[in-house]
Amino acid sequence: MDQKSLLKLDLGNIFADAVGAEHGVSPAEFDALSGPVADFTRDIQRRRQNGEVGFMDLPYDSTLAEDIESKAGELSSWCENFVVLGIGGSALGNITVRDALGHSLKKQTRSCRSAGRNSPDIFILDNIDPVLISEFFDFIAPQLSRTAFNVITKSGSTAETMSQFLHVRELLARTGGCSSEKQIILTTDPDAERSLLRRIGDSGGYCMYPIPENVGGRFSVLSAVGLLSAAVGGCDIKELLLGAAAMDARCSSPEMYKNPAALYACALYKHYLRDKTVDVIMPYSHHLQSLALWYCQLWAESLGKRDGLKEKNIFTGPTPIASTGVTDQHSVMQLYQDGPFDKVITFIEVDCCRRERVPICENDVEPDLRYLSGKSFNELFQAELTATRCALRDKQRPNCTIKLPEVSARTLGELFMFFEYAVTYSGCLYGVDAFDQPGVELGKKYTYGLMGRNGFMPPALD
Ligand code: PA5
Repeated sequence: MDQKSLLKLDLGNIFADAVGAEHGVSPAEFDALSGPVADFTRDIQRRRQNGEVGFMDLPYDSTLAEDIESKAGELSSWCENFVVLGIGGSALGNITVRDALGHSLKKQTRSCRSAGRNSPDIFILDNIDPVLISEFFDFIAPQLSRTAFNVITKSGSTAETMSQFLHVRELLARTGGCSSEKQIILTTDPDAERSLLRRIGDSGGYCMYPIPENVGGRFSVLSAVGLLSAAVGGCDIKELLLGAAAMDARCSSPEMYKNPAALYACALYKHYLRDKTVDVIMPYSHHLQSLALWYCQLWAESLGKRDGLKEKNIFTGPTPIASTGVTDQHSVMQLYQDGPFDKVITFIEVDCCRRERVPICENDVEPDLRYLSGKSFNELFQAELTATRCALRDKQRPNCTIKLPEVSARTLGELFMFFEYAVTYSGCLYGVDAFDQPGVELGKKYTYGLMGRNGFMPPALD
């Protein structure tokens, strides 16, 4: 297996020599974390060996990958639309893959079509806003019999997803030419004791995929949760998994300076301790906008905690914010540069020079616009990122950059694994359980209570 990792991490602008002693960390402060990082690594890998934490083992399930590729091929033979019904960790990774690889997928789709294989359109319905639901099912109605639905819920009981499942099952049952057994695929916990959806699936003859018990929702994109919609959309899921495996190899190192996820977690945590409690993620890539939203969920649900591992009521956690370059240079960047010194910005830089050159214009133009003529959007895009990064540095705003040669299945796999490890190391640094989400659970329980589910109490209302 070729495990060459392509991601590079540039932390230069988080240090005092770049942004000043008041706002940057010193190399000595950073060095002091090498010992704790080695201990954290041993602990994380021990938990992995014990089977307590499983996201880092997902890239190695080649049987599942084969099975999913074959299912994707079968689906592509009859379906025009592939609809994911899920929310949170059961949707955001799917959206990220679809949006990141969108353009290349279209190209692949065309070549697949000419080779006689269809690649269905991917929809991800991660809301139950009645307006959206009604508009979506009106839109899909003419092609309902050629639409597959992948219901994804680890717990097998989330109200949003289960209501969508019930709606679709009934719709298919009453529509001629449709079949819920053929058109609905369930992805859930394999244990029927834990998952109601699994029990329904067992008795209903549905095709089902498992979500390993030791893989939580927001860490599940490289399981069947994310892989099926990715494969159906034309993504090379083996490349995605190879990228993730390459990053797993780097992030398993107990040596901090060889472990990019540990370095990144330490950089952000050191700044959190200096009241820089806002972590901005800012990809300079239109296609990675959804990755930023996936990151926000991963960061917020994993680190935003009331209770620590050793102490109760610590009320900790950084606030993640998603921005996009260059668009947000003309929006929130004013705040990032001149507002409170409470942020660390993470750029994701994709090598523009490796991409097809897109000229702005070649002819002579108005004198004041000549600086653009003969140049490319690639150069302008890169210049804007460099300018923003330097402006932030000069205004003593710590920032770092994750560099990728391209947005591809391979680098996306690396990014997923990098951030999942980074949040795991962050959990160790903040002293919280990065794998639970008690706040989300409480909201779910109150919803059940308000909707009259047996055994659940509604919240006290005004
Ligand atoms: O990361 C998580 O655990 C959550 O965001 C869940 O993915 C989300 O609440 C949906 O839960 P489920 O997959 O059980 O429907």
